[in-house]
Amino acid sequence: MFNVEDCDIVELPIVHSEKGNITVLENGAGIPFDIRRIYYLYDIPTGAGRGGHSHYRLQQFVVAVGGSFTFLLDDGTREKEVFLNRPDKALLIKPGIWREIKDFSGGSICLVLASLKYSEDDYIRDYGDFLDFRRNG
Ligand code: TYD
Repeated sequence: MFNVEDCDIVELPIVHSEKGNITVLENGAGIPFDIRRIYYLYDIPTGAGRGGHSHYRLQQFVVAVGGSFTFLLDDGTREKEVFLNRPDKALLIKPGIWREIKDFSGGSICLVLASLKYSEDDYIRDYGDFLDFRRNG
């Protein structure tokens, strides 16, 4: 089982130029899983909160490619807040971590690279079930 301490910020490489920056995300280069899915959250209404679930197996790499937002991570024992506001920083989220996402700035875009294709079977959507999973496996 992973804990919130295992969910770290990863500094992403930047290709600088006078015309702007490029950050590249590639399998095998700094991401601790093979990318099977990419999705992004956008057009998020002011005040909306997202997340509110955990995953049995999924690992994710999250980048604020535009704007900013806050991840609240919870391993059933400890909580950690992570503010993301840079396209050159990613948050690694390990399996078995409850997450809430809040305080989206206007126009923000939350890019997610995921280790598995979408499967509802991998979600734990009830917080009581999550705590039970953390305590009893
Ligand atoms: P969900 O992961 O619960 O959203 P969030 O954590 O951002 O609030 O996904 C919301 C819905 O979107 C889910 O019920 C089904 C759909 N969905 C897909 O079909 N495929 C996907 O890859 C994702 C992430 C969501």
